[in-house]
Amino acid sequence: MQDEDFVMIRLIVNGETHRLVVEPRRLLADVLREDLGLTGTNLGCEHGVCGSCTVLVDGQSVRSCLMFAVQANGHEVMTVEGLARGGELHPLQQAFWEKQGLQCGFCTPGFLMTAYELLQRNLNPSEEEIRSALSGNICRCTGYQQIYRSGAKRFRGYSWGKCHCTIEYWSLTLKRRHSLRTDGHSVQDVKRRFCPKFGGEKNCDNSNQ
Ligand code: FES
Ligand code: FES
Repeated sequence: MQDEDFVMIRLIVNGETHRLVVEPRRLLADVLREDLGLTGTNLGCEHGVCGSCTVLVDGQSVRSCLMFAVQANGHEVMTVEGLARGGELHPLQQAFWEKQGLQCGFCTPGFLMTAYELLQRNLNPSEEEIRSALSGNICRCTGYQQIYRSGAKRFRGYSWGKCHCTIEYWSLTLKRRHSLRTDGHSVQDVKRRFCPKFGGEKNCDNSNQ
């Protein structure tokens, strides 16, 4: 293979910049998994049907089995590995874990990223909106009700109001909620006290969003 068969690209993946030399034909999913070792993105059907390879590119969900890595050049990619912070699960992951919203777990990264995208647009989705958003993902274990009831429905409980602070805010708030619970504070108390959108104190780097 000759040099002209390769292209230099720059991907910002989960906040980290990577410069990679790839063949133009290589899929984003393969580059994420094989070149960057981010194997949370699973490949199921490899033709855009199952959704297990879902990642976000500039905040929009895409099937990484249908996108060439060169198409993501210069863009921000978020994979399921980008959800947890500081060793703490994202509330969505926590909800799936606690309420058994997964069986074998193969489809789970795709469901998580799809649900995460929904929350970026709509912090208080209706039942219909949740079902509609998740309808493009296939679970081979067919645990759809569990995913919806335990995972998707539960995450609404974490999306307090209109605050657009995302990962940092949630992680921090969960910690605070945990300790505040022992003092008998409710979720509403936490929201009022800590969410800048509700007049609370600045509590995370994203509070000006
Ligand atoms: S592997 Fe990409 S949609 Fe199924
Ligand atoms: S949990 Fe097994 S494919 Fe969905």
